[in-house]
Amino acid sequence: MELPFEPFRIRVVEPIRPTTRDEREAAIRAAGYNPFLLPSETVLIDLVTDSGVSALSVRQWSAMHGSDESFTGSRSFRRFEAAARDLFGKRHIIPCHQGRAAEHLLCRAIVEPGQLVLGNTLFATTRANVEEQGGRVIDLPIPEHADPRSLHPFKGDIDLDGLGRQLEAAGAGGVAFVILTLTDNSGGGQPASLANIRAAAELCRRHRVPLLLDAARIAENCFLITRRESGQDGRSPREVARDIFSLADGVFMSMKKDALGNSGGVIALDDDGWAERIRIRLLVSEGIPSAGGLAGRDLECMAEALDEMLDETHLSHRVAQVSRLGELLVAAGVPVLQPFGGHAVYVDGRAFCPHLEDERLPAWSLSVALYVASGVRTWEVGNVLGGHPDPSSGGWRWPALDLLRLAVPRRVYTSSHLDYVARSLIELYSTRQEIRGLRFVYRPPLLPQFIATFEPA
Ligand code: F0G
Repeated sequence: MELPFEPFRIRVVEPIRPTTRDEREAAIRAAGYNPFLLPSETVLIDLVTDSGVSALSVRQWSAMHGSDESFTGSRSFRRFEAAARDLFGKRHIIPCHQGRAAEHLLCRAIVEPGQLVLGNTLFATTRANVEEQGGRVIDLPIPEHADPRSLHPFKGDIDLDGLGRQLEAAGAGGVAFVILTLTDNSGGGQPASLANIRAAAELCRRHRVPLLLDAARIAENCFLITRRESGQDGRSPREVARDIFSLADGVFMSMKKDALGNSGGVIALDDDGWAERIRIRLLVSEGIPSAGGLAGRDLECMAEALDEMLDETHLSHRVAQVSRLGELLVAAGVPVLQPFGGHAVYVDGRAFCPHLEDERLPAWSLSVALYVASGVRTWEVGNVLGGHPDPSSGGWRWPALDLLRLAVPRRVYTSSHLDYVARSLIELYSTRQEIRGLRFVYRPPLLPQFIATFEPA
């Protein structure tokens, strides 16, 4: 059932303090032109991420107030374990503090130096965890993925021919596992189809290579399957999710995105040997197996969310809210990636700022200009996140897409907030020639977006 308005009442509010353009200019200069380093009070509307920033529901708060904070054997863990077993259909449920902790535990336990990890498009932290273990990542997205104008409904699909070839060439033991990131985030929050996931699972089984799912945004992926894939309409997102999980050997999930948590992560799998190795790592670095470094109230919050996140009224509002923002931009000619994914609208930085060369970091510069003009904070998924110095040429290798991501937190902003975002970006588009490029002052060797600093070029 869809409602013609936000499907919730707002019972707790967080005031937004107005800021002036001068204040924002001073704030971004002090932050080294990195929106990640801004104090949050200087941000009016925060679309930097959809992670860990959801508004919690009455059900979640009630469960959290009744949590069991015992050091071990807590009722809250058992509740979470039962809810996770029921949804994922796996025997071992291992909680941890967030998604990248799950990635770290899995890679430490399973990846051997020199092994390959194949995927549709891995998120930056997943890639970093594989590489830190000595593994090598090959992303195998379908070709439409790199075309901002393609309207392919499942740009998150993995290229099955490429996957087959890589599995064949690597031979036994050459590939640690295949990961499908659902939705893909780094490529526009694009879903993969059930048919593609099924075919990838079949290839993995044939080559005896485990298939893992990065399920951070699985609910949105499943909802988009019910809306876009032939033969899947009329099914519930939960039914589709169960099908998808049954195709995989393991699942890891940041519980901060679709799962509506302020913190938390989980690994779900059946293999006893893997589970033992992961639990031993967990004991060393995260916490005990029935908590994984989380409080009982976090586990309660997560248990509720495994049900709530798949609610169709919630999902249809969420996906409609994101695509409405996108449609407003399209109508004004702003170059955005289509079709819209589940959690964010992505602006094509190179097309928005054609006067800026890749070295001047178009999408990042746009993100800074948008913040100064409007107080809206966003995140670049492009040249800063994915660019690499190229020792062979002495220059840089730039990613296929240089995008600005407008990530919409769940249940936090109303349509009038997002109308303001659209208006601000449309106004900036009409004066885009004035957007100044930036250059690196400090670029750390790993995950540069979080702590790099810049100056006007
Ligand atoms: N996988 C995906 C697809 C992600 O988008 C993220 C985080 C992670 C794994 C890591 O999870 O943050 O709980 O450690 N994405 C955030 C974002 C940071 O803004 O997209 P985490």
